[in-house]
Amino acid sequence: MKVLGIETSCDETGVAVYDTEAGLRAHALYSQVALHAEYGGVVPELASRDHVRKLLPLIRQTLAESGMAVDELDGVAYTAGPGLVGALLVGAGVARALAWALDVPAVAVHHMEGHLLAPLMEGDPQDRPAPPFVALLVSGGHTQLVAVDAIGRYRLLGETLDDAAGEAFDKTAKLMGLPYPGGPQLAALAVEGRAGAFRFPRPMTNRPGLDFSFSGLKTQVLLAWRDSDRSDATRADIARAFEDAVVDTLAIKCERALDEAGCDTLVVAGGVGANARLREKLHTMAAARGGRVCFPRPAFCTDNGAMIAFAGALRLQAGQHEDASVKVTPRWDM
Ligand code: KG4
Ligand code: ZN
Repeated sequence: MKVLGIETSCDETGVAVYDTEAGLRAHALYSQVALHAEYGGVVPELASRDHVRKLLPLIRQTLAESGMAVDELDGVAYTAGPGLVGALLVGAGVARALAWALDVPAVAVHHMEGHLLAPLMEGDPQDRPAPPFVALLVSGGHTQLVAVDAIGRYRLLGETLDDAAGEAFDKTAKLMGLPYPGGPQLAALAVEGRAGAFRFPRPMTNRPGLDFSFSGLKTQVLLAWRDSDRSDATRADIARAFEDAVVDTLAIKCERALDEAGCDTLVVAGGVGANARLREKLHTMAAARGGRVCFPRPAFCTDNGAMIAFAGALRLQAGQHEDASVKVTPRWDM
């Protein structure tokens, strides 16, 4: 089964073709980062318009790279939510129209399910994680721990009560004057910082439960930065202390979630999953308990069309697709 995947939930236009026999055939991504940079964040109307401009050329490019003709497709998967409503409607409209024209099914994919399944998409089939496992979803909009009993059967174990981990990275970067998008820049700066020069709390780790809270950490950074000499070296030290606090907090809660779920396998996905220190810390934690942790390659941690094509292919294989209405769900529990 060959499925075209379309991702337009936020500021990346992602397109891919996933083949259930041959694996990922092609993928392409267009990032709108430069478009939104001068505003310091994503401007929804500009995002929608840019998806309109980029989506069809990107579909043509991806199909050409896959070596397939459009009529070889068996289905079209698209992100139906959660996300920005205008941006979602661009992908949904194009996906529906294409599916109708080709007389193949269209399938609506939950963006976070796409992230969650991304670590299962590539690599040696014998080595890929299989349920049951625990998933840590850490993106700009979500921070969740999920028990995956089977594909399609998810139980929320814990989530953030305020900022998502990626949002905390972005806001912290902004308050120390780093340009948008701040998360990856803050992580790059942290590499130059000294461990232990500053220390921030590990929020909500000294009480039971699997929920998170990252907004207080941002305030701690603000106070430390305001009272500092504001030199480049200090900024790097603070970035390092902030990253260590987030990474430790995530690792503590992941270990607790594995204990509670009685699982050995942790799967990590979403943009913050690209963070090198988080990857290293979780590998160490999992190895120490005789378990393992699986990540997608860094490029598939952040938003992409491949995870949507893959999730759509699994849903179509399970016999799921919908009627011809165009419907998106900007707020949607998984
Ligand atoms: O999954 P994603 O691409 O989009 C959402 O669905 O939100 O995640 C984007 C988030 C942003 O907040 C970004 O700052 C964060 O992931 N991020 C990182 C890194 N790369 C992306 N955070 C920390 N370290 C990174 N290397
Ligand atoms: Zn995402």
